Amino acid sequence: MNSNHPSALFITFEGLDFSGKSTQVALFTERLSRAGSQHLDIRDPGGTAIGERIRSILLDRAVLNMSEVTELFLFSASRAQLVNEIIKPNLDRGTIVVCDRFYDSTTAYQGLGRGLPLDAIATINRSAAGGLVPDVTFFIDIPVSEVERRMIQHKTGADRMEMSGRAFYERVRQGYLQLASEAPRFEVLDGLMGIQDIHERVWKRFESVMSLQQSRS
Ligand code: TMP
Repeated sequence: MNSNHPSALFITFEGLDFSGKSTQVALFTERLSRAGSQHLDIRDPGGTAIGERIRSILLDRAVLNMSEVTELFLFSASRAQLVNEIIKPNLDRGTIVVCDRFYDSTTAYQGLGRGLPLDAIATINRSAAGGLVPDVTFFIDIPVSEVERRMIQHKTGADRMEMSGRAFYERVRQGYLQLASEAPRFEVLDGLMGIQDIHERVWKRFESVMSLQQSRS
């Protein structure tokens, strides 16, 4: 239980880079606004003054020598600040908090992708999240070939994480699929479907999670 407030929900979006997850976050939060729901959307890493500074170090192509453990702790440090400064107080006020990535990214990218030990990552994730667990997680799944195609189209140049290569992304994708198969809070969405179709599925699951939550309180 993340909050005692009946309208509080903690919703996360996950996916490989270029999966279209940020587009879905935007569509979802626009619809929440139209529905008059009190909500907040944030991104991890980032979302606070401290977190945005950590984010710029993490994505900086000039620091390619960053050790994998440093990377793990920087993502986790940004998240700990986000949880304490923003997520927990908003959930306690009954806000629907929508987060673009959360600790499943750490399990998939630093655990399965970089190969850091999963038991240590689980402990660090729990600690950084202060015990919060998302109520629902939308994983937008695209094949790695599609990541590569969209990356070329995008033209802005890859950030430090996006320079990790095809084999890395394959491991991250498999990691996500494994996580999703183990936890019922996940909704796996085919990222090759139309943007509106994906959005409708997101909304449908949101409505069922919300009504379940309200029937419990
Ligand atoms: P974004 O561009 O989707 O906000 O994500 C930033 C990058 O950081 C993206 O490549 C995924 C990566 N990442 C991790 O490797 N571990 C994490 O814990 C998080 C939150 C993101």
